[in-house]
Amino acid sequence: MADTAPEHPGPPKARVAIFISGTGTNMAALLYASRLPGAAYEVVLVASNQPAATGLALAQSEGIATFSQPHKGMDRAAHDQVMEAAAIRARADYIILAGYMRILSDEFVRRWHGRMLNIHPSLLPKYRGLDTYQRAIDAGDETAGATVHLVSTELDAGEILGQIAVTVQPGDSADSLARRIRIAEHQLYPQIVARYVARQYDAGWLLAQIRRMALQMPETEERESHGAPAWRTGGKSGKYFAHFADRHHGVPHVALLVKTGGQDELGALIDNDPDAFFRPAYYGASGWVGIILNRPGLDWDQVTYWLQRSWQSAAPKRLSRLFAAASEF
Ligand code: GAR
Repeated sequence: MADTAPEHPGPPKARVAIFISGTGTNMAALLYASRLPGAAYEVVLVASNQPAATGLALAQSEGIATFSQPHKGMDRAAHDQVMEAAAIRARADYIILAGYMRILSDEFVRRWHGRMLNIHPSLLPKYRGLDTYQRAIDAGDETAGATVHLVSTELDAGEILGQIAVTVQPGDSADSLARRIRIAEHQLYPQIVARYVARQYDAGWLLAQIRRMALQMPETEERESHGAPAWRTGGKSGKYFAHFADRHHGVPHVALLVKTGGQDELGALIDNDPDAFFRPAYYGASGWVGIILNRPGLDWDQVTYWLQRSWQSAAPKRLSRLFAAASEF
């Protein structure tokens, strides 16, 4: 059967760096899953604190760039920085920890907030830390499993992105339970990573972010406009300040429409950054700009700025003055 190029190539693949300390079977599962058609991410680096980690050799044999830096004799932050620099050089969008047995410095974790994932062999919040299998057996748990979560400064306590259950069998040892959990992990991790990195292009997820931000502005409410979600200032004389447009009028963009200062500003925005802004049908005529949300490298600070500006131009003076004063602090 001849390969035909898809009509829409789809969003670009996210670039992930995987950090390992040992055998790297989860890394291998992630790597091979990334070779399936339609994969949402590609592995751009496998890095380790153990130069002899067997996973490094596997990655190398698969043509993946590798890096190692033993942690011995280095302080934690310095070692983290060397590992992080390798991920940055590889232009990684995400760092995926897969059996990376290091506690990370708070600064490193903060810099990658929302962009660093880990897999842990228990059903969190149960059994953070080590010896998870034996602890589940000793507690008489009927079910053990694994969790994928965002990495936060507190160990194994970041937002849970997905879990998989594994039944504890009578007579299980820590090793026998670990073996089955490992198989389950290999199913879980690639799926959750793929879903997580794809959400920045997902209209439902983007809408949820915009909704949360819009409703944070004082005295705002959501009210549909032409069948699409939109937000306005409250009260009888409320005015719209934001519209959500999911591929309206044949454009491929999921977009936020906000009000600019007028045609000159609108034109300048589009000229300066046509990857970020466009002139929306109908609304463009009244000075509204479309901010493209489903694109790599979306700048959420820019989205916040425009939501606030648009709100300020729609809000009654009494409110916008208050808000302007508050943002001085
Ligand atoms: C995995 O089971 C993973 O859940 C665990 O290390 C193993 C690594 O195996 N991680 C932790 O315990 C983190 N606290 P692998 O090297 O074969 O992927």
